[in-house]
Formats: sequence, structure tokens, C-alpha cells
Amino acid sequence: MSTQKPIKLTGSRARPLTGLARVAGDKSISHRSVMLGAVAVGRTQVEGLLEGDDVLATAAACRLLGARVEQLGPGRWQIDGVGLGGLAAPDQVLDMGNSGTAARLLLGLLATHELSATMTGDASLVKRPMGRVIEPLSRMGAKFTARDGNKLPLTIEGAVLPVPLVYELPVASAQVKSAVLLAGLNAPGATSVIEREPTRDHTERMLGHFGADMRVEDIGNGKLQATVVGRPELIAPKDPIRVPADPSSAAFPCVAALLIEGSEIKLPDVGTNPRRTGLYETLREMGADLRFENEREEGGEPVADLVVRASELKAVDVPASRAPSMIDEYPILAVAAACARGTTTMRGLAELRVKESDRLAMIANGLAACGVRVESGDDWLSITGDGRPPAGGTTVATAFDHRIAMSFLVLGQVSAQPIAVDDAAAIATSFPDFVALMNRLGGSIS
Ligand code: S3P
Repeated sequence: MSTQKPIKLTGSRARPLTGLARVAGDKSISHRSVMLGAVAVGRTQVEGLLEGDDVLATAAACRLLGARVEQLGPGRWQIDGVGLGGLAAPDQVLDMGNSGTAARLLLGLLATHELSATMTGDASLVKRPMGRVIEPLSRMGAKFTARDGNKLPLTIEGAVLPVPLVYELPVASAQVKSAVLLAGLNAPGATSVIEREPTRDHTERMLGHFGADMRVEDIGNGKLQATVVGRPELIAPKDPIRVPADPSSAAFPCVAALLIEGSEIKLPDVGTNPRRTGLYETLREMGADLRFENEREEGGEPVADLVVRASELKAVDVPASRAPSMIDEYPILAVAAACARGTTTMRGLAELRVKESDRLAMIANGLAACGVRVESGDDWLSITGDGRPPAGGTTVATAFDHRIAMSFLVLGQVSAQPIAVDDAAAIATSFPDFVALMNRLGGSIS
């Protein structure tokens, strides 16, 4: 959580959104391109890197571990890797800021490097569970000294003799899967992660792109097994990695355009990896007029241009099985549901309680303050709308959560009265250009 002065912003009734805008680079892919670049041999070039605080924390940590990470121009970066096994013990604490992805993936890399490092994060990150990576990484030989046994700050001592692992995920988490696979890179033999629910596979795709021996098999009973063979020659790709626009960031202008009458916008180069597009599937079921045009593949990831037109939305039931493919999108889906006709029920939301904030509680409380009918339980949420935006006219707490802040600023642009958020500073972690981009499209955030 920031120590800076809070930035209060207000969303007020907006004109129709129109035009073309490229949203920020994909956060997950940006983290991975910097981390893999740091342990590859040679120079990795990246275009469209997300220059949000979360990725900058990854870049700073990789520098402290010995890689050269440099910005060449806006979104253009180059990373001179140290080669697998070559990370050096940092002479300062690694501060991962607000980023769970940065912390957990980096712990994976460090777990099989013979060094000791201390890691911390902001007031939100030090509350989040790290036991989910400590447990498998300990089995691979790493040692941890952590507050309460599973929280940051912690000190990791990488394994001297790393042991490969076959690990079945107890929770659907791409971060845990990635931590184990990244640790497996510098262990002898094959390391596998088995998952029952398919989570985002950017690590698997990018490892293949860097030349690792990486395969994913369907092992029956609905399970997938991702296997990496340790100690590959990890080579910087010849061509720059082009980071797609983040579908999780595109979600905010997309829902705003659906809700503001008369809107039509185009968002180019959005990542359409099927493990990330659950929100778009759900919005279509609700009656949204959205299309992916010009579908293509770049750097091993599918991308397309997203065209969105204002639509009348109706309520739907969102099954628990869809949660991994839209885990970051529930706050903005909740905003769409609040303006749709009928009761939208979302299940399988337990993981929302351990994100940048307890998102389930933050959504439920924020919507209720805006005059929306909401019910919630341990892992579900139901939201009833009457096909019109709610009253608004309040200030919503964000708990330094970027997605909560952006969601309520979108709702404020359609509600009868404006909606303010108590602190919008966290938006810089994932979508620094959010306010400017929304206002360029015709939005009203100030
Ligand atoms: C991410 C995975 C997700 C997601 C996060 C980014 C990643 O977390 O919420 O914003 O880049 O791997 P979990 O995998 O823990 O659900």
C-alpha cells in the first residue's frame, strides 16, 4: 500500500465513448518476459512492456539479482540475461511492491539458485498467503524463514541440490504453477505441475519461446500436466517479444462502452489467450455486442482487435468453472451486472478474498453503497439490477486495489450521481494510462 498521499478521483456521467485506444501491455506477460530474459543467455528485447509499478518492481529485483534491465524508449526494453543458474545474491531487500505475481514467480526462480535473498512488499502484499509457493518450493530443496510461516517479509535460501518435483496444484493458481515450473528450470530432470482447472499458460508458452523443453499433456480426468525439463539452454529470442494489450485492462473501457449509450470503441492488439477471456464470454452471454477482429498470433500468444458497442445487458449465472479464466475480472463484471436486468450470480470466488484486497467484500460493500442490491457468501456473489445504472452519489473505499478503483470509476460514469474512489493511486500498478485513455475516448474521470 502506498505511503503517498491518496489520489481521490471521481467518475461522472460521460458522453458516448468513441474512437480507438491501445490499452496497457499485458501484466502477466510483461513480468514473465523480464524474468525469463534475466535468466536466459543473450539479449531479450521487449516491445509494449507494461510500465506499471508491478512490472517495474520485477525489473528492479532482476537488476539486484545481476541482470541488466534497461528501458530504450516507451514500452521498449532490453534485458541482458545472466544465464540459468547465474543469478547473484542481492545486496538489498527485494521489494515487490503490490505484486503477488512478481513475488511468487521470483521465489520460484530463486528457489533453485544457490543464494539467499530477503523479500518484502507493500501493506497489501505482506498480508497475502505465500504458503502456497513455500510448500512446493521447500520440497524442491529451498528453505524459508517467513513471518507467521507463510507471509512476507521472508528470507529464502535457494537449494544447493535442487530436487525436481511432480506437483498437483491444491488451488487453481497460475502463480503457483509458474513458481514451480520456474524452479524446475534449474533442477536436474523433469518438473511437472498438474492442474484440474486450466489457468493462464503464459509461462508455458514463453518457456517454449525461449527454447526450453516444455510440454503440456492431457492426462485424463480433466487434468493437464505441464512438464519442463531442467537445465535447458534458455536463449533470448531473436525477435523482440511483442506484449499484447492486457485483456484484463481492456475490460474496463470495454464495460464502460457497453454501458454508456451510443458508444462504439475499438481496442487493438488485445490478448485473446482462451485462458484469459472468460469475461468476454460472459458479457456475450449477457447480450453484449463485442467482436474480436483481425485475429492473429504474435510471439506465441493470440491477439485481436476488440470492437465494442453499447448494449442492453441481461443477468446470467456465471459458473465456478469459469473463474480461472476471468479471475481478475469479477470487479468489473459486477459493475456490468449492477446495470443489467435481473440477478447475476457468480460462484467459485474464494480466491477473490486473497487478491490485492478482499475483493469479494470490497465489491459487495462498494456496490451496496451505490444503491445496488447485493448478496454474498464465502465464495459467491449475487447482484440484482433493473436494467438501469444505480444511484451512485457516494465515495467508495478501494483498499489500494487497482481493479476496485477502476471498476467504480467506470460505474460512476453511468450512475445517476457521480461516484468517487477514496484512492486511485493503485491504478498505476497495472494501467497507468487508465484515466487519460478513458477521458480521450470521451469519458469523464477527474
Ligand atoms: C497471475 C495469475 C492470477 C491473477 C494475477 C496474475 C499471473 O493469480 O490473479 O493477477 O500472472 O500468473 P493466481 O494465479 O494466483 O490466481
